Amino acid sequence: MDQIVNVNEFQELARQALPKMYYDYYSGAAEDKHTLKENVEAFSRIMFRPRVLVDVSKIDMSTRILGYPISAPIMIAPTGNHMLAHPQGETVTAKAAAACNTIMIVSCMSSCTLEEVALSCNAVRFLQIYVFERRDVTAQVVKRAEKAGYKAIVLTVDVPKLGRREADIKNKMIPQKLRNFEGLTEVQPSEGSGVEAFASRALDASLNWKDIEWLRSITKLPILIKGILTPEDALKAVEAGVDGIVVSNHGGRQLDYSPATITVLEEVVNVVKGRIPVLLDGGVRRGTDVFKALALGAQAVLIGRPIVYGLAAKGEDGVKKVIEMLKNEFELTMALSGCPTIGDITRNHVRTEDERLK
Ligand code: FNR
Repeated sequence: MDQIVNVNEFQELARQALPKMYYDYYSGAAEDKHTLKENVEAFSRIMFRPRVLVDVSKIDMSTRILGYPISAPIMIAPTGNHMLAHPQGETVTAKAAAACNTIMIVSCMSSCTLEEVALSCNAVRFLQIYVFERRDVTAQVVKRAEKAGYKAIVLTVDVPKLGRREADIKNKMIPQKLRNFEGLTEVQPSEGSGVEAFASRALDASLNWKDIEWLRSITKLPILIKGILTPEDALKAVEAGVDGIVVSNHGGRQLDYSPATITVLEEVVNVVKGRIPVLLDGGVRRGTDVFKALALGAQAVLIGRPIVYGLAAKGEDGVKKVIEMLKNEFELTMALSGCPTIGDITRNHVRTEDERLK
């Protein structure tokens, strides 16, 4: 483990540890995978404006999300099927989240039940949901999440239909049993991607802004919307009364040629005007990326693939190492930019490509 010096190195270790079908499922994305690559590359086009001669002998990375204190603005994104990566699945990821004092957003497509994840650790957990055609299925899961002590519902809105993930189609990818929905939504055997077959059968493509009211009516938990990419929709989300937004293109797994999330963050932040927290995911692989997202107005970032790569390669220690490496890099970035606390990070600490070209 000491040999691993950055988060990217876990990808190759995961490739070696996993059967090809599962590695392809985790690493894959839609069609040409343009957005997948852009998510990472767009970060590299943002440069720093570091300030010097600031006392950075003590760095405090801690922050709060919806009032919950976390050790750094780095959270775990919802990703499904962790038992494909580790026999104990999400319970292991959750233990790592607790050890690192961060928040895990548990996917409703988890291989462990949401109750099993809750019992495994005392990490603050949010539950990510999809809305099914059978609303009672979604409503039941939300009720169970409340009962099991989840602190927020994260509604993913960028999957009215599943994006074309060609590797999964080729591999005839079979997802794990969806234990949160046992007996409610069996996956039919299919010719192509089993993930796609499930999504087209179960998800409600008619979901629209009016349905946020429905979700609001069935839960008192804060609601975050994940999958916002435009200021227009960010404004609608604020008007719909949600408690937070995640700027996300689903890690490039849905609409290919969607913009890299970091390139649209600032325009979203500008219309939200601080009324609700804005989080971001997609392509965060370095502490410098975390800093750039915060400088452009995000309250925190979510990490997707590196977490499952860490889990596949080294279990709980792997997930912890991924988070710790990102935290260490972020701490160093804060020091070298002259920012001892999160509140010291400002828009003036970065320069975007647009600004450089002016
Ligand atoms: C995901 N993502 C996802 N999102 C969601 O809302 N519900 C889900 O069940 C899943 N499942 C899932 C599985 C796998 C294997 C991946 C890679 C991703 C998307 C995820 O939450 C997040 O938006 C991206 O993964 C972030 O991009 P990076 O960090 O992977 O680049």
